[in-house]
Amino acid sequence: MSVTTSKPAASQSAAPPLPGTRADGTARLEIGGKTVELPVIVGSEGERGLDISKLRAQSGAITLDEGFVNTGSTTSAITYLDGENGILRYRGYPIEVLAEKCDFVEVAYLLIYGKLPNPAELDTFRTSLSHHTMIHEDMRNFYTGFPRDAHPMATLGSVVGALSTFYQDSLDVRDPRQVEVSVHRLISKLPTIAAYSHKKSCGQPLMYPRNDLGYCENFLHMMFAVPCEEYHVDPDFADALDMLLIVHADHEQNCSTSTVRMVGSSDANLFASISAGICALWGPLHGGANQACVEMLEKIGADGGNVRKYVDLAKKKDSGFRLMGFGHRVYKNYDPRAKLIKATCDKLLAKIARHDPIFDIAQQLEEVALADEYFIERKLYPNVDFYSGVIYRAMGIPVQMFTVLFAMGRLPGWIAHWIEMHHSPTKKICRPRQIYSGDTLREFVPIDKRP
Ligand code: ACO
Repeated sequence: MSVTTSKPAASQSAAPPLPGTRADGTARLEIGGKTVELPVIVGSEGERGLDISKLRAQSGAITLDEGFVNTGSTTSAITYLDGENGILRYRGYPIEVLAEKCDFVEVAYLLIYGKLPNPAELDTFRTSLSHHTMIHEDMRNFYTGFPRDAHPMATLGSVVGALSTFYQDSLDVRDPRQVEVSVHRLISKLPTIAAYSHKKSCGQPLMYPRNDLGYCENFLHMMFAVPCEEYHVDPDFADALDMLLIVHADHEQNCSTSTVRMVGSSDANLFASISAGICALWGPLHGGANQACVEMLEKIGADGGNVRKYVDLAKKKDSGFRLMGFGHRVYKNYDPRAKLIKATCDKLLAKIARHDPIFDIAQQLEEVALADEYFIERKLYPNVDFYSGVIYRAMGIPVQMFTVLFAMGRLPGWIAHWIEMHHSPTKKICRPRQIYSGDTLREFVPIDKRP
């Protein structure tokens, strides 16, 4: 089998290129005595891919790519990510600019509607969001039933899934108005659902949302206020949270976003699709890494703070230990989000004049790992989860809630991808193939004859 590429006449490109891409000749694959022409498509930032959609029909073969390391599942116009150069842009705007100039609600609008809102559009969006912050009163009863020590990600996924039972008037995936209502409901209600999970875990009364507050202020109010006294939201905490939600808002075809698209591809409703995304995010190799990272830093601190010992341990394959918050499937450079988070972390800790030994350990660990040949060779840098937990701790957010905050941030990205997929003229149900490696045909043995 061999593959070659060429730039033949334009007439060789059978189908028009997908929107936002251009054709650039074909690759020729020789397999089993046949030659198959695979169109080469180029994205708006020059990324190249082979269109293999006709491969099986023409050759009988499929591709095998465990973990989808080389596989593009879709074209997408939402987020551009260049892992080699540490670039991240939403709808063409650099993450650094959006983090400085916008708030989370504005960024959510950008991701979902594809453009920055003008003042009237943003005002309408905010007003609509503020009308959906409460959850159905009967849903509050769910929290009585959940065990108090349940992980809040388990509660979050369950309650979001249950939105389909209470809001049946917005489940039709083909009705744009119903989809929009579901979108606004989700963005408004997720902080309420999340804060209630926390209140349940600490045995405090659930606090109703306050629509006179901004998105992040309202969340902090629901997390930390109690009915018996006044609670003032620290504006610096609200700003830091806003920045964290923005930098988490989208990251193209990651595990949870691909899950949302996969579930949504069957035309499952938006609540069901997002609930699946929350479950995917929970794993420690994905969103759960922020919790795992702080737990690791605490462990290193409790063990005397010897960071070198843990860096060495992470290098031993048989130790089963990895530096949490380090490494990324796509970034082979400093994660631009980690840079923004570290800067906010510095500022916040200085402002509250709190010395957090975990922050010192994180900095030492980063320094030792970045100078170590193992990490240099493999291009392992701190990722988004490395410093975010330190900020959450400074705000008083319990460690089990860290991944929940990631989910709140990622929500507009999930929604934008779900909508983009539904608008795609080439949408089809996601259904990967496999290479079967099990037993060939076996003769059935009756139970009394089995050894
Ligand atoms: N500590 C030590 N070694 C590591 C680490 C780490 N954190 N990450 C990767 N490596 C090593 C691997 O052992 C492997 O070494 P080898 O080539 O000698 O076998 C090499 O670097 C490549 O690692 P892979 O696991 O093949 O890379 P992959 O792209 O599959 O994994 C992942 C990426 C899952 C993020 C990985 O780096 C990891 O487990 N990191 C720790 C968990 C984490 O922080 N996850 C959050 C990611 S960001 C997010 O989801 C929001």
